[in-house]
Amino acid sequence: MGFPDPARMGAVQLSGKVVVVTGASRGIGAATARALAARGATVVGTGRDATALGAVMDDIAGTAVLGDVRDPGHADEVVRRTLEAHGRLDAVVVNAGIGHTGAFVEMPADRIDELLDVDVRAPVAMARAALPELTRSGEGAMVFVTSIAGVLLVPRESLYSAAKAAMEAFAELLREEVRGTGVHVGTVIPGAVRTEFFTNRGAPYERSFPKPIPPEPVAAGVLKVIEDSVDRVVVPGWLRGPMLLRRLAPRGYRALSRRYG
Ligand SMILES: NC(=O)c1ccc[n+]([C@@H]2O[C@H](COP(=O)([O-])OP(=O)(O)OC[C@H]3O[C@@H](n4cnc5c(N)ncnc54)[C@H](OP(=O)(O)O)[C@@H]3O)[C@@H](O)[C@H]2O)c1
Repeated sequence: MGFPDPARMGAVQLSGKVVVVTGASRGIGAATARALAARGATVVGTGRDATALGAVMDDIAGTAVLGDVRDPGHADEVVRRTLEAHGRLDAVVVNAGIGHTGAFVEMPADRIDELLDVDVRAPVAMARAALPELTRSGEGAMVFVTSIAGVLLVPRESLYSAAKAAMEAFAELLREEVRGTGVHVGTVIPGAVRTEFFTNRGAPYERSFPKPIPPEPVAAGVLKVIEDSVDRVVVPGWLRGPMLLRRLAPRGYRALSRRYG
């Protein structure tokens, strides 16, 4: 994306770029929108909450596109409105998402559909809508905000974990598919983050450890994926420890998580 600034060798410059952030009305998306704007990017933010989204976009002189990611055609509309308003699209941060915790068999059928629609179908639709535009210009980035749940696979968050694992797999393979086109695909893998996510999923965060972190470091992770063309950023970084343990000793990891998780 763009020409490297000699002052920052190898880094992509965000200044003057147009970036879509889904779910920019609050939480990680809002923090990411603000961080991108601070770097000089123009942000097109999406969400359903007109007041919250409007407040964030007003602050950063961004463009708000209201809508539900579950609506067929929403992703195409976001891309179309971005090109209409700004004439270009350089990067997309696929962030809008919902969680769910509890026994899978007790999960209502409509909640299953909603989670799969928001956390899997909508990101896939956004990739389909945006990638042709990103590759056409020969430069660009697509970042998926996944979750540590999709890598460690968290009990009682089975469908959410599976959905985020699916997005990790999808991103890795998309990266291979678009290699050489100038488009970089990466993921940001947050641990627990202090947002309305837990209220919105209908169950508070109850673990005493790890303590949720603020959304800003996750936003910094998104910028790192775009600016430094990094494949995966884990926030906070120490979560790479449990990730490695699970990969090297899956049964031992599961036994520990049963005991202490
Ligand atoms: N918080 C955590 O601990 C945590 C940890 C790991 C990963 N994540 C991931 O981080 C991402 C952002 O989560 P967050 O913590 O910032 O949660 P949040 O504060 O609840 O924000 C979620 C965002 O997604 C949007 N959204 C949700 N459903 C939507 C729909 N049907 N249509 C359009 N927009 C929708 C919301 O917009 P409106 O309300 O305006 O509709 C909101 O802007 C998610 O993908 C989540 O899975 C979060």
